[in-house]
Amino acid sequence: MSTSDSRIPVGILGITGTVGQRFAQLLSVHSQFRVVAVGASERSAGKTNAATGLTIVACDPVHFGNCKVVFSALDASVAGEIEQAMADAGIHVLSNAKNFRMDHRVPLVVPTANPHHLDALKNFNTGKGFIITNANCSTTGLVVPLKALIDKFGPIAQLHVTTQQAISGAGYPGVPSLDILENIVPFISGEEEKMEIEPRKILGPGFVGDKFVLDDTLRISATCTRVPIIDGHTMHVSLQFKAAEKPSVEDIIKCLESYSTEAQSLKCPSAPSRSIIVHTEANRPQPRVDRDLERGFAVSVGRIRKCNLLDLKFTLLVHNTILGAAGSSVLNAEIAHAKGLF
Ligand SMILES: NC(=O)c1ccc[n+]([C@@H]2O[C@H](COP(=O)([O-])OP(=O)(O)OC[C@H]3O[C@@H](n4cnc5c(N)ncnc54)[C@H](OP(=O)(O)O)[C@@H]3O)[C@@H](O)[C@H]2O)c1
Repeated sequence: MSTSDSRIPVGILGITGTVGQRFAQLLSVHSQFRVVAVGASERSAGKTNAATGLTIVACDPVHFGNCKVVFSALDASVAGEIEQAMADAGIHVLSNAKNFRMDHRVPLVVPTANPHHLDALKNFNTGKGFIITNANCSTTGLVVPLKALIDKFGPIAQLHVTTQQAISGAGYPGVPSLDILENIVPFISGEEEKMEIEPRKILGPGFVGDKFVLDDTLRISATCTRVPIIDGHTMHVSLQFKAAEKPSVEDIIKCLESYSTEAQSLKCPSAPSRSIIVHTEANRPQPRVDRDLERGFAVSVGRIRKCNLLDLKFTLLVHNTILGAAGSSVLNAEIAHAKGLF
């Protein structure tokens, strides 16, 4: 790498994992960031990381002193302590782990849903690095169309979602093949709880007074399952608006198709040209066919129709390791940079 390279030096924590490898792929060709350090556990330290050509170091801030930002794909069992140490050392952290997501003073941001929550960081003058978290992979897919619908038609009172989640969502090496091939596992530990609370922070009013406030209208019931798909989480959603007057299916389609966010208006390099892709074919979206649309940064929505019990139902698909994980962190960093936060 030439010393005249003016891109912002960044590090990746958890480079050996499923999300860490996706970070390496997205950042290897990035116009604003260049990877100068990669970390994992002591087990991996000293090995060469093939994707970046860098030697893996332990996740200690002393090895990341050249980095302005670190992208974290750490296992939750260690993420809290390491990410806090990085922030204390003045390094900004963009995290995929669950540890700080519900912290009252940490933004939980899906870049194509609530990028405005990043503005709260302007109020914090700690002299340390900030921590920005992105959401659980399923939550991420869900909140993008919800944000579009709430902006246009007002609060959602209740929602039921059933997921069919890909194997890569369980990390590396993940679910044993004999458990998942020709099978469905109807339980993912901790996942339903995350899906039922995280959207209320993301879709809430943001930073009010001295903390992020939760949406107090939205009630969610989630059922999460693991299916034999490598990448791409599919979700089936039924929801009810609070308002007595209900939008038509045509209104819903128009709303989702015209949805646009700050990620686009700030011209961030990873922003999709369309955050939501509406499919009108009856058998779409499908993981193998649609997960890579807009380089994995879009949410696909299809099967939009009236619900006999609530108001509306639809199926959605999100690429769980791109928009659902590493891609969200990278796009959040681009937005934070465009907003002058670093
Ligand atoms: N997979 C997804 O779709 C997805 C989506 C959203 C969020 N997330 C979250 O993102 C994070 C990473 O997920 P993943 O699926 O990539 O997990 P993973 O494949 O299990 O990778 C975990 C990473 O953490 C590192 N690690 C483990 N113990 C460590 C220690 N003591 N010190 C330093 N590094 C350590 C591992 O390094 P070694 O190889 O050296 O052990 C590995 O690089 C998790 O918090 C997960 O919940 C994942």
